[in-house]
Amino acid sequence: MAGNIELERTLAIIKPDALQDADEIRRIIKASGFSIIAQRQIHLATEQAGDFYAEHYGKMFFTNLMSFMSGGPIIAIVLGKKNAIEDWRKLMGPTNPMDARERFPDSIRALFGKDQTQNSVHGSDSVASAAREIRFFFPQMILEPIPTGQTTER
Ligand code: PPS
Repeated sequence: MAGNIELERTLAIIKPDALQDADEIRRIIKASGFSIIAQRQIHLATEQAGDFYAEHYGKMFFTNLMSFMSGGPIIAIVLGKKNAIEDWRKLMGPTNPMDARERFPDSIRALFGKDQTQNSVHGSDSVASAAREIRFFFPQMILEPIPTGQTTER
């Protein structure tokens, strides 16, 4: 239906190490064609960070990741765009910022990341994880298709 193209949603996080860069990161996000549908700043408890990253439970970096993500405030953002999940992962760049700087120098992790832990941003990696992660931070959000032109920025 004309004017009713479904926008995909994804969950982005500005991590504690990049909070001071949040304005610039949001500027890049908008300049790259994403709508900011909702956002909130939150300081996670360690257990909440563990719940969010439950899929990585048992990995060598799990404890480090939990303590980093609960070590300061983060900004959780719902992004909307056609192909948002894949396009946001591309804009973020690879997990390791050194790799990002070599291969994707314009990516957000190349510009703002420090190392594999302090890598500035997170993004959902699939439709299922986007739904779970959006619900984690925005439990009241109804995940219906968004008609084009009706996205709002808060
Ligand atoms: S995996 O095992 O391939 O799924 O891991 P990867 O995709 O590389 O990373 C998953 C998330 O873990 C973070 N990570 C780390 N945190 C702390 N310390 C170390 N060493 C570390 N290595 C990876 C990485 O930043 C990913 O976080 P998100 O927020 O999902 O991007």
